[in-house]
Amino acid sequence: MTSELTTRDPDAAPAYSGLDPDRPARAVVVGAGGMGRWWAQVVQSSEVAELVGIADLDPDLPATAIDHAGADPARVAVGSDGVQLAEEVGADILINSTVPVAHRPVTIASLRAGIPVLGEKPVTETLPEALTLVAHSEVTGVPFMVSQSRRFFRQVRQLREFTRAHGPNVITSVFFSMFADVSGYRKAERHPELRDIGIHNFDAVRYVLGVDPVAVTAREIHPSNSTYDQNATVTAIFEMDDDSLFTYNGSWDIRGLETLWNGEWRIGLQNGSATWDGIGRPVFGTADAEETTHLQAEVAADDDVEPDQIDASLIEFVSALREGRTPLTAVRSNVLSFAMVEAASLAAETGERVVVDELLQEALTQAIAMETDPDARAVLESWGSVREALAD
Ligand SMILES: NC(=O)c1ccc[n+]([C@@H]2O[C@H](COP(=O)([O-])OP(=O)(O)OC[C@H]3O[C@@H](n4cnc5c(N)ncnc54)[C@H](O)[C@@H]3O)[C@@H](O)[C@H]2O)c1
Repeated sequence: MTSELTTRDPDAAPAYSGLDPDRPARAVVVGAGGMGRWWAQVVQSSEVAELVGIADLDPDLPATAIDHAGADPARVAVGSDGVQLAEEVGADILINSTVPVAHRPVTIASLRAGIPVLGEKPVTETLPEALTLVAHSEVTGVPFMVSQSRRFFRQVRQLREFTRAHGPNVITSVFFSMFADVSGYRKAERHPELRDIGIHNFDAVRYVLGVDPVAVTAREIHPSNSTYDQNATVTAIFEMDDDSLFTYNGSWDIRGLETLWNGEWRIGLQNGSATWDGIGRPVFGTADAEETTHLQAEVAADDDVEPDQIDASLIEFVSALREGRTPLTAVRSNVLSFAMVEAASLAAETGERVVVDELLQEALTQAIAMETDPDARAVLESWGSVREALAD
């Protein structure tokens, strides 16, 4: 498989030939931990996909996930090597819900096998690795979408519409606060709040405000009650590319008055403000009382039942494959959300203001140095400005 890719003619037609729109996509879920169980359940109940396999390094977990999903064990293959399993059962898509350190190897193997990947956040472990994944998706021609499930909340869409109509942006803040008695890979993870929760909010803020990051300053602390090995309480100030500010406060070390998973939002615009408690309807305010009443009435009336979270991620991915279009959170567009995590992490470590473009260019140098596939490396070497390459 490896030699086949490395000798592949870069001018050859993409390995991926599309998805049959007339039947559900055959899906293999790789990584059957907490998130993999949820994915298995969502695929099992989906009209756009069919659960045909589950893999995990732990041999007991696939059966548990099948049971949890209410699937028929006779119809779902199991294994430990997810890509091998996906090839054996003729999967159309691979859902990568492994731990972050496994995201890159599993994704690359799947792309090389010609199987599109819907991967969990964060895209991978480091920014250079993330850039290599963009290159691998380009070289193979096989789609790779990072599931940023929070984008698909109706309220996020409503906030985006309000923001577009009442900008320019001035300052936005999101506050996430919970307590976790942590276990598993997150216990020793570096910058666990930013990588686990911050990434969701950063991606949603880019989408809602229609802006990208320029620079960040950040601080982290390690309160005495924290169950995390690393700092899980962070505050960050981002400067965005429309000269607005975004401030983020996140903590896994606070008891009482916990926020919801989406955090609490306040969006400040030149011509209006919005607040969101993370689950209910957003609250809008403008200088015009009549307009405000009208906007709130519109939001109150917008109550059609619609899929959200990973149900919506799956629909977006399968729809994009069927229609031959780029999915909403394809890896190329996701890198800047992950860059916000990595820039804030570095800012917290150094105490310095981190300029995102400088970080991206350093990441490119490291990506070129680490990439062993000549075609993927050639893609990276062809980039001048990473920001421009990501925008293509
Ligand atoms: N979108 C969300 O709301 C959301 C919520 C929770 C977790 N997540 C993401 O999902 C991912 C998994 O998180 P989790 O909480 O389920 O972790 P987890 O530790 O419960 O499960 C991960 C599983 O992956 C398996 N695994 C590791 N390497 C593998 C490999 N190479 N092949 C097959 N299996 C492998 C492990 O054995 C483990 O069972 C993370 O990236 C996390 O950020 C997303």
